[in-house]
Amino acid sequence: MKIAILPGDGIGTEIVAEAIKVLQALDLSLTMETAPVGGAAYESHGHPLPESTLQLAKDADAILFGAVGDWKYDTLERSLRPEQAILGLRKHLGLFANFRPAICYEQLVNASSLKPELISGLDILIIRELTGDIYFGQPRGRRTATDGHFPGAEEAFDTMRYSRPEIERIAHVAFQAARTRKAAGSEGRVTSVDKANVLETFQFWKDVVTEVGQSYPDIALDHMYVDNAAMQLVKQPKRFDVVVTGNMFGDILSDEASMLTGSIGMLPSASLNSRNQGLYEPSHGSAPDIAGQGIANPLATILSAAMMLRFSLQQPEAAARIEKAVDTVLSQGLRTPDIYSAGTTKVSTREMGDAVVKALG
Ligand code: IPM
Ligand code: MG
Repeated sequence: MKIAILPGDGIGTEIVAEAIKVLQALDLSLTMETAPVGGAAYESHGHPLPESTLQLAKDADAILFGAVGDWKYDTLERSLRPEQAILGLRKHLGLFANFRPAICYEQLVNASSLKPELISGLDILIIRELTGDIYFGQPRGRRTATDGHFPGAEEAFDTMRYSRPEIERIAHVAFQAARTRKAAGSEGRVTSVDKANVLETFQFWKDVVTEVGQSYPDIALDHMYVDNAAMQLVKQPKRFDVVVTGNMFGDILSDEASMLTGSIGMLPSASLNSRNQGLYEPSHGSAPDIAGQGIANPLATILSAAMMLRFSLQQPEAAARIEKAVDTVLSQGLRTPDIYSAGTTKVSTREMGDAVVKALG
């Protein structure tokens, strides 16, 4: 089993190092190879996604990704900015299905800005379409073509677009996920989030999701406008089971959902293609403001490694061992600063990684 390790920028290197430690402690036969990506790759190779990094990712069974981005690259022309690395990997590898679970650990119920009763027991799954929508629409550009920034431009535009097959395949992923979760005790509901009251693209989305839903009579389907969904997520988050939505709305709603769990530092994610090859990364970004201080929370990345073992490497027992170990360290009261509260023990990034390794048993 070959894993491409792409740590990236900011806290990326620190958190990925902890996840590697945990993977190595499992004693599986994993080959890991590291390559630069994002701003780091721009520095070393002059491009955020060098050909060699892309090739390594293509050849791997799975990719463990840290984070990319730093404000210092904001003045670069768009094609050279760190974010293009992750967008390029998604597109080149066809990673269209993005799983962003939001699970509230009972031990962290007080770390959320929401009332404990609203989020206690929360377990929802946001499925974000990842290779279409306004992120990848054509045409894309500005009226007065100047690379870099806008001086002198009169207008800028991006195009929102979805094709039927793109919507169908992500809808199937959502209904199947709801079915799997139902077998494990969830409600068996898909909420499709759109903006059909204003946008043609999302009327089409809604129609196609409804059609696909007809082949899943065991799963309830409801539709919600994105503005209402943003409100319901903080008003009564437990009304959701599986949420499926487009690339742009999913980007926004998944950040919102992450805070229901106490910290964005806890949330893993998986991006899969139709061959179950996947890219696994924490839901959070590169946090350049805290990089190098040893205070970043590595748990989202460690949990992403668990998702990798489950989804792409067919090692569900190893995945469960990691998840159980994370639960254990939280019960031991160990907390990085982002989830710290009075009465718990503040630990560094590395101490948290070590504690998870120890808790693997
Ligand atoms: C995410 C990020 C990315 C996105 C950025 C870094 C391009 O915010 O994965 O949610 O917008 O998809
Ligand atoms: Mg985002």
